[in-house]
Amino acid sequence: MWRPPGTLGACALLVGALCFSPPVQAQDTVNVLHWWTSASERKAADYLADRLQDEGVTWQDAAIPGGAGVGAMKVLKSRVLLGKAPDASQLIGPAISEWADLGLLLELDNVARRGNWNDKLFPTVNSLIRLRGHVVAAPLGIHRINTLFYNQGLFTKLGLAPPHTWADFDHAAEAFSRIGVTPLAQSTEPWQIATLFETLLLSETGPAFYRDLLVRRNANSWFDPRVSRALERLRKLKRWMPQQLSERPWQDEASDLAHGKAAMWIMGDWGKGELQAQGLTPGDQFGCIAVPGTADAHLYSIDTFVMFTGDYGNQAAQEKLALMVASPQVQAGYNRIKGSVPVRRDVDPSTLDPCARQSWMAFARGAAVQAPSLVHRMATDEALKDAIVSLIRRYFMDDHIPTSELQRRIASVVRALSQEGNSYDSQDTGR
Ligand code: GAL
Repeated sequence: MWRPPGTLGACALLVGALCFSPPVQAQDTVNVLHWWTSASERKAADYLADRLQDEGVTWQDAAIPGGAGVGAMKVLKSRVLLGKAPDASQLIGPAISEWADLGLLLELDNVARRGNWNDKLFPTVNSLIRLRGHVVAAPLGIHRINTLFYNQGLFTKLGLAPPHTWADFDHAAEAFSRIGVTPLAQSTEPWQIATLFETLLLSETGPAFYRDLLVRRNANSWFDPRVSRALERLRKLKRWMPQQLSERPWQDEASDLAHGKAAMWIMGDWGKGELQAQGLTPGDQFGCIAVPGTADAHLYSIDTFVMFTGDYGNQAAQEKLALMVASPQVQAGYNRIKGSVPVRRDVDPSTLDPCARQSWMAFARGAAVQAPSLVHRMATDEALKDAIVSLIRRYFMDDHIPTSELQRRIASVVRALSQEGNSYDSQDTGR
């Protein structure tokens, strides 16, 4: 629902003034802003729209193209500042608390009570959607970022097993490059380079040290030799990527894997959704394993919807959407299309495909194995994320930048952007 400038959202954000709008009549339409525009993402959004229609509410779509929500977040900010906040929006990670703190988000405590979210959701999901005891977001699915996809036909053709170590990876890559197949699909979009890097960082360091770097923001830890090794691996992997790298959207890499132009691809498991949308079946034409060295870890990004309060005129429809997305049926149907796994603990893993089963079971092992994605907005605020992503991209594109220099640059950015209380570690903040 589009609202004229001057309603509560803009007032609260811009001047902190008190603004009152007359209540409007309850509506049966929700305007939903998101960044799901690939074939599988579109199908997943359509699935949600259909289920919402079953509840008598129409989904009015506001899709903003751009992987990882780079464009969508800018549009969302400007819509809120113009007083045209959507009714619902994909908004993920610590940003949920920041926006809730501004008083912009609808509290969903009644919905959570009705859906018994406290018991049914994974603890990490429960704490992500809560601020000071109030539920302020509705969870959709958990993506695993440290996923390596491989084309089963190509591996069978060369008699190769999927690689669990970097030595196996290099061995397989060498064999594919000999037969003229690109060993590793990759794009130069900044978020895609950084997505690859964060999996390498996890591979070298493990979840505890990864959190130290990105959640506790320990600037000195960035000088650690394990970080140097992850950076150097990022550059070394270029040898297995296409000769002519370009800023392609991630869906194009899914096509390359599907058509046997590339043998492997490291990407969040929305890639699985896209491969399925191209007619492939997980565990059959393609497989997923954890990125080498990360089998015991889950680098996660959790998709969530927030509801904007506006003048509270659309609360009933917004609550229907929130309740619906976390229900067992919708969780099963939506996540199967999207590539993610349910946010619920009461799932029978035997009903999941092999990729989803690995992801769900790894996540279920709890906080010690979980690492929040930097690039997919789980670890830090936007400013630090954007700064690190752009430094990583520069380092990847320009082989002349010494690794130690890049570490120094990241450490100073981390130091500069980390004031006290700016860490998102729940142990640090007591959230
Ligand atoms: C992630 C998001 C996923 C998927 C992906 C590619 O940030 O959580 O749902 O859309 O970006 O755009």
